[in-house]
Amino acid sequence: MRRYHPGYDFRRAHSIAELAHMAQRRLPHFAWEYLAGGAEEELTLARNRQAFAEVSLLPRTLVPWETPNTRRMLLGREVPLPMAIAPTGYNGMLHRDADIQLAQAATARGLPFTLSTVSTNSLEQIVQAVPDVNLWFQLYSMSDPKVQEDLLHRAQAVGCSTLLVTSDAVLLGNREWDKRNFVRPRQLSLRNKVDVLGHPRWIRQALWPHGMPSMANLDRYLPADQRTASGAAHFIGEKMDKQLSWDFLARLRERWRGQLLLKGVLHPQDAERAVALGLDGIVVTNHGGRQLDGVPATLDCLPGIVDVAKGKLSILLDSGIRRGTDILKACALGADAVLLGRATLYGVAVGGQAGAGHALDLLSQELRLALTLLGQPDLNQLSVSRRAAAGTGAALTVS
Ligand SMILES: Cc1cc2nc3c(=O)[nH]c(=O)nc-3n(C[C@H](O)[C@H](O)[C@H](O)COP(=O)(O)O)c2cc1C
Repeated sequence: MRRYHPGYDFRRAHSIAELAHMAQRRLPHFAWEYLAGGAEEELTLARNRQAFAEVSLLPRTLVPWETPNTRRMLLGREVPLPMAIAPTGYNGMLHRDADIQLAQAATARGLPFTLSTVSTNSLEQIVQAVPDVNLWFQLYSMSDPKVQEDLLHRAQAVGCSTLLVTSDAVLLGNREWDKRNFVRPRQLSLRNKVDVLGHPRWIRQALWPHGMPSMANLDRYLPADQRTASGAAHFIGEKMDKQLSWDFLARLRERWRGQLLLKGVLHPQDAERAVALGLDGIVVTNHGGRQLDGVPATLDCLPGIVDVAKGKLSILLDSGIRRGTDILKACALGADAVLLGRATLYGVAVGGQAGAGHALDLLSQELRLALTLLGQPDLNQLSVSRRAAAGTGAALTVS
């Protein structure tokens, strides 16, 4: 299919791919690579998409139309769609107050929003701007127990229902574009500084008038003269707990009264340990292909995890969700919900809150249409067969 050039108005984007295309033109080169890139050869980044392509949909015919049901229970609350916004750090580089904008877009649609530890709006700013947000907080475990405890205390104080502990990023993956684009943490190379000058709309939406944003959640732990993007990057590099272990998670299970999820599971035995620890959920993720290159697509890991953990805790999946049919396939294979990373970031990069909302609406319209065309209007009734139905040529078939 020839890709239609959608122009510059994000409302005219008919797919997440078109929003991505617009974001690429809007953002300077370094910001685009930060957003879209993966680690090393980007094998995992590509596998994430390929895995969805390899699952077939086998529709039933002559099923009278009815409004598709996409509602389900997720972590103790009913959600209108099986999706939430994933934690992503440094969103303010895409658009000023991008975390607030994402939270607004999600809340307007009854969906949870996850704030990263390394966000550019703080926990307190989010709840002040979006009081009715269903706020989840993603924790990067800190080696300084005081900082760690303070982050947990703040998350609780602002009413976070859910805590996600990220376990696949104690060290950053090998992202060569980052090394090329920055001469020091958050210090752009000359070539990139020149490129920035060619993106006046981005300068207006993200840089003007305060320059590169700092990591607002962490500001209070930094000396006043280091509350900058590079100061925070240095801090996080130093203070991230490299000894993150199951013992830590067991202690956190005692400490955190809300829902507790482990984000970074690919192996069924890790899913079993999460069940044994009494966690409320896991996120099957490869960090959007940004960490260890060569790991499998999350969709390929899902069946093995579902076999050992389904019904014992909530199973969320992310990495590569770009279409409503991807959500449908993930749910058919046993995910309770998906997290959206880049899909909504492309939207926020080109249209702020409305752009993020547009991304969410595209995905939900696609999901509802796919359920109808599949002849299975209830998301909770999907079935999957592991043998190819005659003539589909596929290993997995959803109906
Ligand atoms: C720009 C960017 C920043 C991210 N920052 C974080 C982060 O701070 N914490 C975290 O747990 N995951 C982070 N992730 C991973 C996402 O939570 C999620 O796992 C991933 O984006 C899913 O893949 P997708 O982008 O293909 O949907 C980040 C991903 C991207 C693209």
